[in-house]
Parts: sequence; C-alpha cells; structure tokens
Amino acid sequence: MPKLVWLNGVVSPLESATVHVSDHAHLYGDGLFEGIRMYSKKVFKLDEHVARLFHGAKHMGFEQMPTEQFVKDVVVEMCAKSEFDDAYIRVNLTRGTGLGLDPKNIDRRPNLMVMINSLALYRPEDYEVGLNVVSTSYRVIPADALDPRIKCIGRYASNIMAKAEANSKGAGEGLMLNHQGHIAECTGDNIFLVKDGVIRTPHTSSGILCGITRNTVIEIARRAGYTVEETFLTIYDVHSCDEAFLTGTAAEVIAMVSLDDRPIGNGKPGKVTEQMTTLFREETKIGTPVPTVVNASA
Ligand SMILES: Cc1ncc(COP(=O)(O)O)c(C=O)c1O
Repeated sequence: MPKLVWLNGVVSPLESATVHVSDHAHLYGDGLFEGIRMYSKKVFKLDEHVARLFHGAKHMGFEQMPTEQFVKDVVVEMCAKSEFDDAYIRVNLTRGTGLGLDPKNIDRRPNLMVMINSLALYRPEDYEVGLNVVSTSYRVIPADALDPRIKCIGRYASNIMAKAEANSKGAGEGLMLNHQGHIAECTGDNIFLVKDGVIRTPHTSSGILCGITRNTVIEIARRAGYTVEETFLTIYDVHSCDEAFLTGTAAEVIAMVSLDDRPIGNGKPGKVTEQMTTLFREETKIGTPVPTVVNASA
C-alpha cells in the first residue's frame, strides 16, 4: 500500500520525501515527534497527541508555530488520502533549518512532517504469550536535564541503545530505571504492575514519558473499578507482583511475563492484563473520524 508523506505542505510518496540536511533535528535532535494510531479510519486521541506536541514546542521555545488545529487538519486530511484503514501516523516537528546549535542563527521556521505508515512493534505471538523483558544498563535522562514529558527526538538515543542491549540478550523489551533506581519505563512503552488486584504504574516524576496510552489505561481501569496508583516502584515490586503489562501507541497493551529470566506471577499473561487489552481495544473505536475522499474521476 503506498505510504504518503506531507512535508511542509508538499504531499509525496514516502520514498521521495526528503528533509533538508541542515534540519535542526537531523543535526542535533532538536525536534519533537508523535506516534498516533488510526483504527478503522478514526484517529485515536488526536487532540491529546497534538496537545503534547505543542506543550513540548512551547517548552523548547519553537517559534512561528502553526496552530494545533492546522496540524490536526493535516493529519486527518492525510489519513483521508491514504488507503490505510488502520495506520501508524508519525508527526515530526523540528525547530527549523541551519548549521550551528544556536537557535538565533538558524531559520526558525519549523519543519512539519506527517507520515501515514504502518508499524508493528512486536510479533503477533508476543501478544499471545507476553514479552520477556531484561533490565538494561541505560538510565532514563534525568528530568532536570531534559523533561521526559516532552517527546523530544534527541532523547531517544539512549532508548535505542537500551533496545539494542535487550535485542542482544534475546529479550522482547528493555527496562530502564532512573537515577534513584526506581523503575521508569521500557524503551518505547510505559509499565504497569498488578498486585492483589491493585494496579500500579510509575509516577510521572519517575522520569517517564507521560504516555497517552498509559493515561487511557488508567482511565479505563478506574472505570472498571480498579484502584490505580501512580507511585514509585523498584525491581522488588516487579519480582513480587502478580502480573505486569506495557502500554504505548505502537505497543498498545502487551503482557510482560518475565524480567531477567525470572517469571512474573505464573509467567503467563494475567487476567487483569487480558481485561485491560480488551477494554483498550474497545476504547480505540472512539476517535476523530476521517472523511471518505470521493474519487473525482468516479
Ligand atoms: C519512551 C516511551 N515511553 C512511553 C511511550 C508510550 O507513550 P504513548 O502511549 O503516548 O504512545 C512511548 C511511545 O512512544 C515512548 O517512546
């Protein structure tokens, strides 16, 4: 299926879309991104993703920004143009173009890219049996160095190295701690632990990305009657919990069945995880509708 890219107002196939070599994210990681999913031609949590992008841009001091509505309209328009019913949408927003890290010396017109693609983070069988996760030697970047709530392109270098470490150990995912030794998150997803029917997840001040799927799962779990605590968790909590699962736009909801070869609970996806998976799938039916493009030649 052809994959389309919108880049600064020009629509082209993925293969021919190119960014300027002096784009500040290309040179320095000075940009932000969002991964968004479309389910059955409805864009899931579009407002929340675009709001996170704009909070990040404000924090990083990007100038000459388009409006949030403009970005949402481009996403919906591109989804309408695309033949995909279910898609992974990538939005990149960079500070501008120019050599040298000093922002005052560059062309500070942000570069905006919207790509309609597909992405499977894990194998279908991983969703059946759950993921084996290993601890990695990479810590999340401290919040006072780079606030983890902004989805900054530059911060992902350590997540990529952590993912490579997990790969080298034959694991499905890598767990990252923060500098206090608290559990933060996996390389591309947030973590939840279940113990005696109570669901716990690291507090945002643990240095995690405040995941939109995380927030959705907290909401649906509370709606289903669960107590959900945002707290501080350690490796001990993983070893002693009954079940664990990971969440993310790309990952969706997936069971974590072991850490460093030690089974979590009975080493199989747990009942609460299965319930959250079902409720999450149900929730993805709600989204911003994408209009059907009428073929003019028809
Ligand atoms: C490091 C990290 N944590 C958590 C998440 C999950 O965030 P969300 O649910 O908003 O996709 C992501 C998603 O890309 C991520 O990269």
